[in-house]
Formats: sequence, C-alpha cells, structure tokens
Amino acid sequence: MAADPPAPSAASATPSGEPPEAGGAGIGAGGVTGGTAAGWSDRFEQGLHPAIERFNASIGFDIALLQQDLDGSIAHARMLGVCGVISAQEAASLEQGLERVRSEAAEGTFRPGIEAEDVHFAVERRLIELLGPVGKKLHTGRSRNDQVGTDLRLWLRDRIDAIDAALLRFERALLLQAETHADTLIPGYTHLQRAQPLCLAHHLLAYIEMAERDRQRLADVRGRVNVSPLGAAALAGTPVPIDRRLTAASLGFASIYANSLDAVSDRDFTVEFMAAASLVMVHLSRLSEEVILWASEEFSFLALTDRCATGSSLMPQKKNPDVPELVRGKSGRVFGHLMGLLTMIKGLPLAYNKDFQEDKEALFDGVATCLDCLEAMAILFEEGLEFRPARLEHAVASDFSNATDVADYLVARGVPFREAYQLVGSLVKTCLRQGVLLRELPLERWQNLHPAFDADIHAALEPRRVVDARRSEGGTSFGQVRQQLERTRQRIFPGRPQDDPAPPAA
Ligand code: ARG
Repeated sequence: MAADPPAPSAASATPSGEPPEAGGAGIGAGGVTGGTAAGWSDRFEQGLHPAIERFNASIGFDIALLQQDLDGSIAHARMLGVCGVISAQEAASLEQGLERVRSEAAEGTFRPGIEAEDVHFAVERRLIELLGPVGKKLHTGRSRNDQVGTDLRLWLRDRIDAIDAALLRFERALLLQAETHADTLIPGYTHLQRAQPLCLAHHLLAYIEMAERDRQRLADVRGRVNVSPLGAAALAGTPVPIDRRLTAASLGFASIYANSLDAVSDRDFTVEFMAAASLVMVHLSRLSEEVILWASEEFSFLALTDRCATGSSLMPQKKNPDVPELVRGKSGRVFGHLMGLLTMIKGLPLAYNKDFQEDKEALFDGVATCLDCLEAMAILFEEGLEFRPARLEHAVASDFSNATDVADYLVARGVPFREAYQLVGSLVKTCLRQGVLLRELPLERWQNLHPAFDADIHAALEPRRVVDARRSEGGTSFGQVRQQLERTRQRIFPGRPQDDPAPPAA
C-alpha cells in the first residue's frame, strides 16, 4: 500500500522561500526528530494518514501560545547553559534562534502548517532549520508534556491579569453610576414582586461586591496557576542535571510542582479558572437580565443610548438591548467549557494523555468570552444607558412596598410583629379592592385599625423615609449607602478624590 503523500509543508520553507539546508536539519513531515520521512523516531516507517494528521494537529489553535512557548524555551535553553548541559555559546545561539522565530512571527513569515502538529514542534522545527545541529539540543531534559503545561500556565496567568483589569473597569463604571444615583430610589423586588424600595446606588453596589469577589477568586486561582511544571519532563523527571528552580524563577513562577507526575497531569487550574469565569458570567448575566427588564416599556427604569442599542430591521420604533442579551447568551458558552473540562479530565489515568490537548480551545474561548463581555458591560454602564429618576420616583411611590413599614411602625409602638403583620395584610387587601394606596388613607382609617397610629404615619410611609429607615449595617439607608460608596471609591480609585460628590440624602 502506497503511503499518502505528505501534506505541503509551509513551515519547513524558510521565510525567503528556500528549502531547508540540505543535510542540515533533515526534518520530515509529522515531527522534528530528523528521522525518516515518517518524521518521528526511526521506529516509524509510514507517514500519518492525512486525515489523521489533521485530526491530531493542534497548531490551528495552539499557535496562540507562541510567545509563551518562546519564553519557556529561552528560559530552558539558558538554564541548560548555566547547568553546563550545553555550552554557553550553544545556549546563546538557541536564544538568538528563538528570538529570530519571534521576529519572523511578528513579520508574518512564520506560518506553520498542520505538518508541524503543534506550536512546540513548529518552533523546534524552525529552530533546527535556522541553526542546524545546535537546534536539536533545545529539547534536552524536557518533554512536550511539561512544555505545554508551562506555556498554558504562562498564558493563563497573563489573561487572568487582563480579566482582573477588565473587572476593575467594570466596577468603576458601576461606581460612577452609583455615585450619580446616590439619591435616586428604585423598587426592590423579591420573587420579581415589589418588596421594599431601595436606593439605586445600593442596588448597583451589590454588583460591585460580586465583581470584587470575582477578582478575589481569580487572584486565588492565579496563585495555583503560577507554579512551574517545567522539568517534570515526560512524567518521571530527567537524568539530565537541570535546575527547575532556575527556569521557574526566570519565568516568574512562584514555586515548582513537587511531583513530576502531578506536574504534567494537573489540569485542576483550568477547571478552577473556568469556574471563576463562570461566576463572572453569572453576575454579568443577572445584571444583563435586569437591564433588559428595566429598558422595557413596562419598567421604563432606564433608556438605552444609541451607543449600545440597535434597531429592528422591520419595526422602526424599536431599540433593542443587544449588548446585555448577548452577554446573557454568551454565559452558556463558559458554563459549557467548565463542564467540558471536568468531563475531559475525569477518567484520565496518570500521567499525560492526549485528551489534554482539548483544554486549549475551551480555555481560549472562555477567556475571550469573559473579556469581551466585561468590556461590553463596562461600556454599557459608561455610556450605553441612562436611568430615569422621575420614572423611578413615580414607581416607588405607587405601590405597597411600604407595607412592612406600617408593621414596623406598630412594632415600634409595642404591637407584636405577627399581630401588626396580620393587620396590615388585611388593610392592603381592602386598599387593593378600593384602588387606593396606603399613603392616601385618612388618619381616621388608620386609627380605626389600631389606636397606636398617629399623624406621623403619613410621613413614615414616604418612600424616602422608608429607605432611610433601614440603617442596619449594609442596609439601604442613605447614610449606609454613602459609607459603602466611600469605601468602594477608596478601594477602586485609590488616591483620587471624588470630583463630583453625591447630593446629600433627603
Ligand atoms: N499539543 C499537545 C497538547 O496540547 C502537546 C503535548 C503533546 N505531548 C504528547 N506526549 N503527545 O497537549
């Protein structure tokens, strides 16, 4: 049976288009070892089936790890030089070769195809083309198993920092809205039924708290991402006298994996990250749902500006909240990646298994989704919506969300809470039947209900009074909210005085 022809090799051509040095690198398709045309060690006699070559290749997506792969390889090459495994001169030429690959990538001339299989082989192949025999020394005392683990951790560490910055921007956008609305009221809901009125800033601050926990969770995950597996080699360590702590330190890792098997088999960090990212998405999705409701005709608590809203192709009157809808919709992708990663890992015997190659697209997409959604939501709160205080004011004044306050009024005058609760319940029922609000009832009606009611009942029912009465720590009173705003401002805008102080509470 004739072997399938090897796929055209873009990577084995030099940037100038010349074939690799004759007799120098001697690279075949499917590997870097310089063996037969089969590409791997001389154990192999036939090349891969082209469909299997495509199936096996990860270069289409793991090229995203190129910078980290180069950084990891440079650290490894330097360490080999320091430890005397290779000469200082060899270490220097490996580093130069790797930097050359970096420049070629920047110029767009390093474009490995699937014959390179993955980013690790692609870099090594190119290095061997560039340097000849010295290039073949790079992979001493290392395996792609510890290499890919290193690349992935370096990449994710950097992306966690980017997500942290995006979370901070989102928190700041929310805080600026909260400061603007330190004096605006909004109905508060439980079961999506009117419950008790709130200060709008209090509502927005709740999301800042969630985002802050997201940052803390990610920082915690980062600590466990920032551990070096490099030098674990394939699974068992290496007889080559390497220095794992040296490579770890030069790559900025805080520590090294204590066990070589664990080092190449651990993908806990991908799951932890995706769980933390899923919670970010849960928070963004809940806020999105509220914005979508608030923008509806039925609520009309806010208006979307033209910056973030879209129109309908058919209905000229429409302004659609596409941004929060997309964020809500995209959350499912991240939860899906979390489940995918857990399932991918759960049955794997130690140590490395090719299944792990599947972690990358999940991680890449999870990170991109999370970053895109955070940016879009920050922009939405920076310039994509305007709350409607008059409309909100009207909403809080026209419901029974002050009913608890009537009960509290009686409790303050010695009536047991349950008794007060029953009285107010029956009063609300009559009011609903008669189409009147509590604040519209004359004093006689109150006093017929219970002699403890006095002329101050009307003031006690004003929404602003209702809100300001909730002074328990963390409650919605204007004073409590002002304290939350100040603490939050100090935390997320350190050293910057508030330019535009919130108006004093009524
Ligand atoms: N592309 C592989 C991955 O993403 C690199 C490691 C390959 N290791 C191996 N023993 N085949 O996991």
